[in-house]
Amino acid sequence: MEMVNTCSIAQVNEDEFISTLNRFLLPSSPIRREELLRGRGTQLDDIKKALACSGRHVFVHGDRGVGKTSVAQTAAYLYQSTDGDPVLVGCDAGMSFYTLAKSIADNLVKSDPTLKKRVSSYGAKAGGKYLSVEMATSLEKGEVPTPTSVDAAVALIRFAASAHSRSPVVVVDEFERMTSLEDKALFGDFVKQISDQSVPIKLILCGVGESLTDLLGEHESCFRYLASIFLPRLGITPLMEIVEAAAVALGVEIDDYFLRRMAMISDGFPHYIHLIGIELFWSLFNDEDVPTKVAGKHFGKAINEAVNNVEPHLKKIYEQATQKYNDDYEYVLWALAYHSDPERRSTEVYESLGEIMEQLGLPQLDRGKFNNRMNMLKRKAHGEILTGSRTGWYRFREPVVRGYCRLRADRAGVVLDRSHAFDSAGALPPPRLKQLE
Ligand SMILES: Nc1ncnc2c1ncn2[C@@H]1O[C@H](COP(=O)(O)OP(=O)(O)O)[C@@H](O)[C@H]1O
Ligand SMILES: [Mg+2]
Repeated sequence: MEMVNTCSIAQVNEDEFISTLNRFLLPSSPIRREELLRGRGTQLDDIKKALACSGRHVFVHGDRGVGKTSVAQTAAYLYQSTDGDPVLVGCDAGMSFYTLAKSIADNLVKSDPTLKKRVSSYGAKAGGKYLSVEMATSLEKGEVPTPTSVDAAVALIRFAASAHSRSPVVVVDEFERMTSLEDKALFGDFVKQISDQSVPIKLILCGVGESLTDLLGEHESCFRYLASIFLPRLGITPLMEIVEAAAVALGVEIDDYFLRRMAMISDGFPHYIHLIGIELFWSLFNDEDVPTKVAGKHFGKAINEAVNNVEPHLKKIYEQATQKYNDDYEYVLWALAYHSDPERRSTEVYESLGEIMEQLGLPQLDRGKFNNRMNMLKRKAHGEILTGSRTGWYRFREPVVRGYCRLRADRAGVVLDRSHAFDSAGALPPPRLKQLE
């Protein structure tokens, strides 16, 4: 078990402070440790069950930013046999199936200095399950060949897996970037073959999408080899726990009010709460008195800094949509993000806008102008920040951008809709961890 630093923030030096911060708060890198992965117990259990089944693999999917890579990598480190590290590969834009297979093989054999010997003892045969003579020759030279058929890819991966470890786990991330239907079909066939032929690897695939059909097309024949692990947005309680654990480790007291407000801004996308948390603890650390309790001024500073230090691509989307125009566009985006439903009817968004304008002490936009703004935000000139699937309904094209809108609104002093922080009975969530075990 890891030692938990129970010193107070006032007593630690800057190095200790930074290292504790980095251990608990990772706004831009995936989680790999189970004890830091909040609110995904059910999904980890489902993954465990799937991987325990021979010939079964896993597909983790959901919105961008919801935590797919974190779940996939945490599971990969849990289930990889102890004689190796899991293999992590990402898809590039427009990657072909064969390039992906080569990349997996490359990573599986990467650290093996005895490759040449291994190839000769493994042997090659024309056809069948084994390496072809061409592939064996290439591997003996230390070059991983690019396969040219699904059978060849299966044979290559079987060999590469044997060079890696007893039971390699391979994470294939950003699968949505493989866009060609033909490559998806080849990949589907590949999954089927490695399952049917009991190739001893486990695949954990990740991609942006609501369903496996979104990601793999209509190749349903491979779906039965894949457990579909859908990740919904992270709940308020697990979001609060992310910062609470860091606070406990730093010996900082933080009122539930602030934790809840941070969690509500994040609205299911953990990047934001990690980021606000970091800024919050810095703000305490840099306070001359080094207080051990979070106050409003620290929180305000944290929100401000978080707006500035959010991931650049999120900022860019927001700025492209709003920058060169008057503030109406910002208010309209805040209004859409005001409530946690991912898709909202424009009449409701208009009501939210009314509430926001009232809070800001500004007159409500007239309806015509509002409609115009909403429509403009779907256009190229505004980066197509919004889309609509049905008439009169709107959503963010990248749902993770909602969190940034909420952050900006909070900075401007707008109190966001609070209803979704409580369950339908109006009860508070169950008590949370007090101490990290
Ligand atoms: N369950 C979780 N608990 C705590 N932090 C999380 C969790 N899931 C994701 N994060 C954090 O959120 C951010 C985005 O997660 P990531 O796994 O990269 O999302 P995705 O792959 O879906 O885009 C990362 O900074 C990561 O550390
Ligand atoms: Mg990811």
